[in-house]
Amino acid sequence: MAAKILVAVAWPYASGHRHLGHVAGFGVPSDVFARYQRLVGNDVLMVSGTDDHGTPITVRAEKEHKTPREVVDFYNREIRENLRDLGLSYNLFTRTSTENHYTVTQDFFTRLLANGYIFTDTMTGTYSEADKRFLPDRYVEGTCPFCGYDKARGDQCDNCGKQLDPTDLINPRSTLSGATPIFKPTTHFFLDLPAFADRLREWIDQQDHWRPNVRRFSLGLLEELPARAITRDLNWGIPIPVEGDWDDKRIYVWFDAVIGYLSAAIEWAKKVGKTEAWRDWWQNPDSRHYYFMGKDNIVFHSVIWPAMLMGRSDLDLPYEVVSSEFLTLAGGEKISASRGGEIPLVGDFLAEYDPDPLRYFLIIAGPETSDSEWSLGEFIRRNNEELVATWGNLVNRVLSLTHKHFGAVPAAGALTDRDREVLTTARAAFETIGADLNTAHFKAALGGAMATARAVNEYLSAEEPWKVVKTDRERAGTILHVALQAINNLRILFTPFLPFTCQTLHTMLGHTGALAGPILMETISEPHGSTHEVLTCYPETWVGTWEWSDLPVGRPLEKPQVLFKKLELPTE
Ligand code: MF3
Ligand code: ZN
Repeated sequence: MAAKILVAVAWPYASGHRHLGHVAGFGVPSDVFARYQRLVGNDVLMVSGTDDHGTPITVRAEKEHKTPREVVDFYNREIRENLRDLGLSYNLFTRTSTENHYTVTQDFFTRLLANGYIFTDTMTGTYSEADKRFLPDRYVEGTCPFCGYDKARGDQCDNCGKQLDPTDLINPRSTLSGATPIFKPTTHFFLDLPAFADRLREWIDQQDHWRPNVRRFSLGLLEELPARAITRDLNWGIPIPVEGDWDDKRIYVWFDAVIGYLSAAIEWAKKVGKTEAWRDWWQNPDSRHYYFMGKDNIVFHSVIWPAMLMGRSDLDLPYEVVSSEFLTLAGGEKISASRGGEIPLVGDFLAEYDPDPLRYFLIIAGPETSDSEWSLGEFIRRNNEELVATWGNLVNRVLSLTHKHFGAVPAAGALTDRDREVLTTARAAFETIGADLNTAHFKAALGGAMATARAVNEYLSAEEPWKVVKTDRERAGTILHVALQAINNLRILFTPFLPFTCQTLHTMLGHTGALAGPILMETISEPHGSTHEVLTCYPETWVGTWEWSDLPVGRPLEKPQVLFKKLELPTE
């Protein structure tokens, strides 16, 4: 039976341009996973959106003399375009500043409060008389008491790396006005995490399928698990749904962002006209929830969000927490002045290069289990020596030869052992690659697909159909028949990784329908008249299954187009 799979992808802050590191960590891997699960026949709900709240947004707004609303509107659009152009197949990519998300978050808060897991307490806040407001920790600067660095921030010192409180700073000042703040009491709501420690320990202990580092790290966090403030002295964010004097405070961004996984599922259900359908994923013991994120986000997904879910007890807990490491800049890379020696921005990069070679690189050389380096030279080398030379070339050689000499898929005569062997290899790949994809071993899976393509290339080089056709047309037809069957199935094996070119190949092989897209922008209207744009797609209408299928003999084949271009290092 089709399993309900929730693919829950970390929400990028709508606070700036996103670079390749962001999409390497959570974006491409989660999409590979979702596309594979759909091909297998499972019911995938893949959701995310932009994280529109928090100090990353207000800091940017103040720097650019804009309102937070203007900032998030701008970056939400840009990020949506980036993710669409990269082919990320969200069923819904929305944002946290929607009416729906406010309602779901406030309802979540109210339930945890009613269940006794949220309480108020008074803490010391940093208040600036000059700015007439409390200052978030990163809005306070001063001298580090440990190393004497005079631009230490209220949350940490960038010079010595020590974690700080604003009260630790010598000569503290507001980054907004430069004025000296005072410290005064402020009351906030807290999530009673200690109340969940035992349940969390027992639950995490049972998660044998988690990667050992994620499990160990999460268990370690339980050793000392203090209650956490879930409101802030800010005016950008979701209002606190409690009677009383809370007008100057908002729900903390991390508390609302994780609830996005639920609110986006609810929004999706409304959008497709099946209001209750979200429950099939969220209130269904047989559903499985896979969360994708960078390693700095683990605590929120393996401890805090599960605690919040336990506090309600009517929603399903995570099944898998897939975290990636970081993409870093290669030390030896020639630093381009125009790019500031940084990892390229997604938009800039896709304006110059196709999405599939990028997806290929980010999986085969990305930060799946350890930090990995970005290098344009490596990207180009792998494109030319691997994607073009192995897979692109295979498709091109076989389709061109077939078109030229037969014009259609030739029939097979008697098969040799060698023919059978290559067919068996391609057939077996569904199982081995599938097992890797199902357990989030994306690099190994893509390596397996490339190895299969290489095996077919070796077969061709050994059989030389371009020579054989001059003397034995029937044997040449058999060789091309075998190679075409392999390519037809590699089309499916590569789809999770290379959706754009697999769609092209799909059409070139005479198949109809959509194998892997498109990804669309749509407008959502909400009950109180506001609207927002989302990214969406309709995979239930797509074709293609993760199993061997035969390409029918006699099907006409057109002259093929090239799937991957050879690239050159730009001369600057
Ligand atoms: N915006 C956060 C970041 O970029 C990630 C939020 S993930 C979610 O680090 F859990 F909050 F959704
Ligand atoms: Zn310091």
